[in-house]
Parts: sequence; C-alpha cells; structure tokens
Amino acid sequence: MGRMTHVLTALAWPYANGPRHIGHVAGFGVPADVFARYMRMRGHDVLMVSGTDEHGTPILVQADSEGLTAAEAAAKYNRVIVEDLDALGLSYDLFTRTTTGNHYKTVQELFTTLHANGYILQQKTLGAISPSTGRTLPDRYIEGTCPHCGFDSARGDQCDNCGRQLDPTDLIDPKSRINGETPKFVEEDHFFLDLPAFAEALHAWLDTRTGWRTNVLRFTKNLLDEMHPRPISRDLDWGVPIPLEGWVDRPDKRLYVWFDAVIGYLSATIEWARRSGDPDAWKQWWQDPEAVSYYFMGKDNIVFHSEIWPAMLLGANGEGAGGGEPGPLGKLNLPTEVVSSEFLTMEGKQFSSSRRVVIYVRDFLERYSPDALRYYICAAGPENQDSDFTWAEFLRRNNDELVAGWGNLVNRSIAMAAKNFGAVPEPGELEDVDRELLATTRAAFDTVGELIGANKVRAGIGETMKAVAAANKYLADTAPWKMKEDPKRQGTVLYTVLQAVSDLKTVMSPFLPHSSQRVHELLGGEGVFAPMPYIEEVADLDEGGATDGPYPILTGDYSDTPKWESVPLVPGTVLEKPTPVFTKLEPSIVDEEIERLNA
Ligand code: MF3
Ligand code: ZN
Repeated sequence: MGRMTHVLTALAWPYANGPRHIGHVAGFGVPADVFARYMRMRGHDVLMVSGTDEHGTPILVQADSEGLTAAEAAAKYNRVIVEDLDALGLSYDLFTRTTTGNHYKTVQELFTTLHANGYILQQKTLGAISPSTGRTLPDRYIEGTCPHCGFDSARGDQCDNCGRQLDPTDLIDPKSRINGETPKFVEEDHFFLDLPAFAEALHAWLDTRTGWRTNVLRFTKNLLDEMHPRPISRDLDWGVPIPLEGWVDRPDKRLYVWFDAVIGYLSATIEWARRSGDPDAWKQWWQDPEAVSYYFMGKDNIVFHSEIWPAMLLGANGEGAGGGEPGPLGKLNLPTEVVSSEFLTMEGKQFSSSRRVVIYVRDFLERYSPDALRYYICAAGPENQDSDFTWAEFLRRNNDELVAGWGNLVNRSIAMAAKNFGAVPEPGELEDVDRELLATTRAAFDTVGELIGANKVRAGIGETMKAVAAANKYLADTAPWKMKEDPKRQGTVLYTVLQAVSDLKTVMSPFLPHSSQRVHELLGGEGVFAPMPYIEEVADLDEGGATDGPYPILTGDYSDTPKWESVPLVPGTVLEKPTPVFTKLEPSIVDEEIERLNA
C-alpha cells in the first residue's frame, strides 16, 4: 500500500430485526474496527461505512411477530443497533440505513446501468409461496435436504455443508422455517443477474487477489466454478422498487434484499460525502485505482461479497462478456479483500435468539466494559476457525490476562511514579535492561502493525501482550520499589517503564480504544487519544425512500487520531495516583451468567 491510500472499510450490514449479540460483533464489528483504527493511525484516509439492512423477510417476520409495520420495525431496530455499535466504540464514519432515499436512488441507478449493459435477464421462474399466508417465502426461509451432499438443513439459497448455491426448488422435501409447512411453487416473472457473463472476468480478478484467508479463497473458487443466473427480484411489497416501465409502480414486486444491501457500501459512501459538504468525495474510495477496499463479515455472507457484488460491479463497469459502458457513477473498484470470519458459538452451541442461546451486546455492557468484550473477541474470536465463547474463559482472560497483565502494568508503574516523584521522572543514563525493554516496545509497532494490516488480529494482540509481559518482567527484575536509597536509578527505571506503557497504550489502541484513552490521561496526556463515534439525529437527504422521520446515524471525527509511533514522554509531566483501568471479576459471575442463560 502506498504512502497515503484511501482505504474503504466496509462492514456487513446487520439486519434491523433485533439487538446485536456478541456473535455478530465478533464477526464483522470488532475486527473491522481494529483494522480501521490502525489504518488511520498509519495516516491512511479511511472510510468505514455500513448501516442496517432493512428489507427482506427477516424484517417482515420480526415486524409480524411484534404487530408492527416493516417500516416501524426497521426504524425501531435501526436505533437499537446504532446504540449497540456505538457502545462498543466502533468507529464508523457513517452507519446509515438501506431505507434512505439516497440508497434507493443509488440502487436503482446501478440496476439501470446493469440493465442497459445487458446483464439483467427477465425470465419465468418458480417462486415459493406460503400456502397459509399467500406470501412469498424467501430462499433463506426454506429448509430441506441438499441434493448434492444430503445435508438435511440446507437452505433455499445455499448449503452450509458443501457450500453450493441452491434454488429452493433444488431442495429435497422443502419446508418453511417459519411454520414448517411445505411451500407451494408458482410461476412468476423475475429478473436475474447474468452471473455466467462474468465468469471469465471474475476468475481473472480472483487470480490477482493476494493474501486472502485460505477458507475464503477456497470457498470463492468453488463458487466461480459453477455459476447460474441469479434471481434479483422478489414478490414482496417491502424493498426497493424495480426501476423499469411497467414494474416501478407495482406494489408486489421489489428488488431482492441482497441486491440492494451490497449496493449499500457505495450508497453509504455517497451519503457520507454529501453530508460532509463535498458530494464528490466518495469517488476517492471508489474510482481511484490506487484505493483499496476491505469487506468484513461472517462466513455465511461470503458469496455475496466475493461473487455477486464483484459481478454487479463488473457489469456496471461494462466489463462482463457482453461489454457495455460505465453508468453515471463511473467505473467502480472491485473489493481488494473479502475478510470473512468463521462462527462464534456460545458454551458450545450456535447463537440463536429464538432458542435464547444469546448474549446481547447491550446486556453484556450493562455488567462489563466494552474493552473487556473487545479483548475477548480480539484474543479468542473466530478469525480462522469457529471459536467458542464461554463465561469461564471470559473470566480467565479478563482476570489473568487483561487485569493481571496490562492493567497491573499500568497501575503499578503509574502509582509508583506518582507516589515517589509526582511526575514522569527525569531519567539518568539508561542501562542495557532499560534499552532492551524500550527496543521491545518499539519493535511492537512493526510486528503488531504488520499483523493488523494483514487482519491477523489474534496474533496482533498476542504479540502486544508479549510486550506487556516483557514490561512486567522488567519491573519484577529491576524492582524499583527497593530503590529508596538510589532515587536516580529509581527515576530511570520508572521513566523507562512509563515510556513502555506509553508505547503499549498506542499499540493497544486499535484493539482497546477506551482503555488506551484512559491510560493516555493517566500519563498526563490531554485531549482525544482514541477517537470515539457518536450518534447524530439526521433527516433523510432525499424523498423516495422508506424512512419515516429523523433517524440516528453513527459517525465521528477521527482527524485527531495519533500516529502509529513511539512518542517520548516529557519528564516533569504531573502524574496522579491512578484508579484501576480494568475491573477484576468475581469467579461467581460464571455461574450467575449461566443461570441467567437458562432462566
Ligand atoms: N444482513 C445480512 C446478514 O445479516 C448482511 C448483509 S451484508 C450486505 O447476514 F452486504 F449485504 F450488506
Ligand atoms: Zn450440500
């Protein structure tokens, strides 16, 4: 990556159908925030965008269950989710919604361009309908046996066992996941994205991708080996209208939720630019060939980001087998990398709101700090393989690693310096041990930085904790509390360890921004060290969407981000007795939490 690059950090759009649980934020939220924060510290021009995914059946089902309209349910959970993500300190430049007028316009523009370039086919197809409600049953809500591998819980869009894309009619013994009934298949007119027209271009693009996780690459290669036209319209009354004569006014036909949602990355960038006062600014992240884009999600989203969205972009650029011309939005960049995580389970079970195997972010944060959760996700999240959240492991990591390791280092060193000097002491000549520790914390900028840049968050925080351990060992070895007789050496040792703490709070800040801000203040620093997002109430910029009154966005001013480098402490900076940065937890929380789950 060049010296200063435009970095689009694109996070999967959560369905506005409920509060977020810790499985969600472990998949797309925290890993992406670590990356975005680090990239900003390296001086890159980062734009982190997403929003709530508000169309499709997940929202309709939730709305029905609460006696709300789809628009009401979407607005309700948009607000809830914005609060959840804000509380975790996820530094979105813009977290918006798919019901905005700006989004509808952008989606329709892209559809029109794809259509004009000949990549949208109109075909008759069998659609699934619920016999009891007469309503369309979306692919994801149909379950049955996979015709390829025999897996008995394949979904109508995809088999999670063998990874193949499916149509609901492929399933053996299909059943509605909503009420168990057998769907009825009726003939309907629909629009399809001509995926086979992009086979060659997609293969060529994938061949140029480097550094992708093996799982994602393998999965994507499989997808590209077997492509069929993909339906992009649905029989629904909730979604973006199809912008063609004879279709746009039909109340029963809408674009498929996944077709509109992935365009959200582009529309959110455009909305951010319009709100920033420079409406063309979005082009820097989408049209500049030097710009890069990283997409973060859970593995069930890979197909949409590594096959369908790139195909849509190629089609809009006129770069499929049928050629064509870029539309009014110009030639758009394809993803640099699709960074998919695996799944987080809880106490060995799959998260499920309906089966109440769930910990909501907001409940978690009522009892524990955001950085305690961020630490667990960074250190033990499902980065390359499925991982399990257990309360016993949370307790252990919090107490033995976060509190006993990093918290203890911060607390002991600042308390000792405050007590003995009331300030950052003036160092005398450094000895080898001192120089060694400072070399270790300084080296962490390179090692940890490289790991975060490659989205290896687990290894990154592991390396950081190794440097923390080195600093704790330094304290134990030098034992400055025994140096009453030699204040000069004591000052040198405490200066050294404080400088190490200062370096480490910088290296820690992408992972644990809230506590790094605290450490910055405890070291006598002023102002913003780890910038935080905030919620702002805004009005829709345009008519024509489905928002209904003002809505909250998540945004922030991250221009004060410090640099990714060691900054020398200034001797004489006043220090006060610190209060603990992290909270040690009682072992009894494990049983309490498990009881709460079972209640
Ligand atoms: N709402 C989808 C989910 O939760 C993710 C959508 S990501 C986007 O699985 F790319 F489509 F926006
Ligand atoms: Zn299968």
